[in-house]
Amino acid sequence: MSLLKKRKLESGGGERGVTNEEEDGGGRKAAPQSPGSRKQERDQLYYDCYSDVTVHEEMIADRVRTDAYRLGIQRNCPALRGKTVLDVGAGTGILSIFCAQAGARRVYAVEASAIWQQAREVVRLNGLEDQVHVLPGPVETVELPEQVDAIVSEWMGYGLLHESMLSSVLHARAKWLKEGGLLLPASAELFVAPISDQMLEWRVGFWSQVKQQYGVDMSCLESFATRCLMSHSEIVVQGLSGEDVLARPQRFARLDLARPGLEQELEAGVRGRFRCSSFGSAPMHGFAVWFQVTFPGGDSEKPLVLSTSPFHPATHWKQALLYLNEPVQVEQDTDISGEITMLPSQDNPRRLRVLLRYKVGDQEEKTKDFAMED
Ligand SMILES: C[S@@+](CC[C@H](N)C(=O)[O-])C[C@H]1O[C@@H](n2cnc3c(N)ncnc32)[C@H](O)[C@@H]1O
Repeated sequence: MSLLKKRKLESGGGERGVTNEEEDGGGRKAAPQSPGSRKQERDQLYYDCYSDVTVHEEMIADRVRTDAYRLGIQRNCPALRGKTVLDVGAGTGILSIFCAQAGARRVYAVEASAIWQQAREVVRLNGLEDQVHVLPGPVETVELPEQVDAIVSEWMGYGLLHESMLSSVLHARAKWLKEGGLLLPASAELFVAPISDQMLEWRVGFWSQVKQQYGVDMSCLESFATRCLMSHSEIVVQGLSGEDVLARPQRFARLDLARPGLEQELEAGVRGRFRCSSFGSAPMHGFAVWFQVTFPGGDSEKPLVLSTSPFHPATHWKQALLYLNEPVQVEQDTDISGEITMLPSQDNPRRLRVLLRYKVGDQEEKTKDFAMED
């Protein structure tokens, strides 16, 4: 299992409250921080996560992700030929280069982290300095010399909305995209399904296996292990297989990136209901959430979809798991329903929070409040 964590966010002191009470080196109390400077500090910590090679290696090595972008861009060749493109969060510059290869006349590769320097090197190595202009800084403040015909961006975090980078894309859309311009990708959808997590079952069952190996019965730790692994409020990022899925997946939200008002929706919370029935009997451990994004079809009939479903080839996004406090036994056709709200955490708006309301069979309705694991 890879220990690499894409987009691990630093807390940035967001939890400390309005005043920073720590003493500075000279023994004086540090000055209170304004909300604006706290946001700036937190954003900087966020961008810093992208200044190292590891995260870019993980993203570019994810063939499902990078090939989907390459194909999604290539399919839109006719719309990009001779046109201008803004790449929001260009990273090492790969998507900007795909756009240039697809015939874009000029690509503005905007990148807020120090990795922009490597993007510039890559652009130079590929002889594309005339076409691809790397612009350092947050897209919210960078000045472009013109409006653009298209925006490309890989903004999706764990559970789609961790990192809250979509707001930056929407900001760029409002400020720099020509009326009716192209968005790559153009939409995102969120799915949920109840799960019986075989890996978790294995980890709990491990404690009953110890006796066979060492002659010490440790099976009494099974319920302790279950509590430790499930009875917390973190969103766990873990890859599942289709076999872990207990019922037909339900789409609970669709975000059309061109939709007016989407930014306010993200702040208030993306919300959706679901209802499904269990395929068979199994211990239900919780729910898995995943997403897909869709690129406009271009000339092709079928739009290109980048899916992070457990039924499709694995991506570095894996799935976002929401564990119940303890397993619930379900039988075939048990009715499972609920509502999911995804919103920014109050302490750090880049950290994903999920409010889950659910009902399993005849049990009373329950709620659980989650935040993305550290
Ligand atoms: C998921 S990475 C994608 C990198 C690259 N486009 C790729 O596909 O390999 C997102 C990048 O966006 C940058 N980023 C995030 N928010 C930004 C903003 N508001 N302005 C500019 N860059 C931003 C991050 O520093 C990071 O390098």
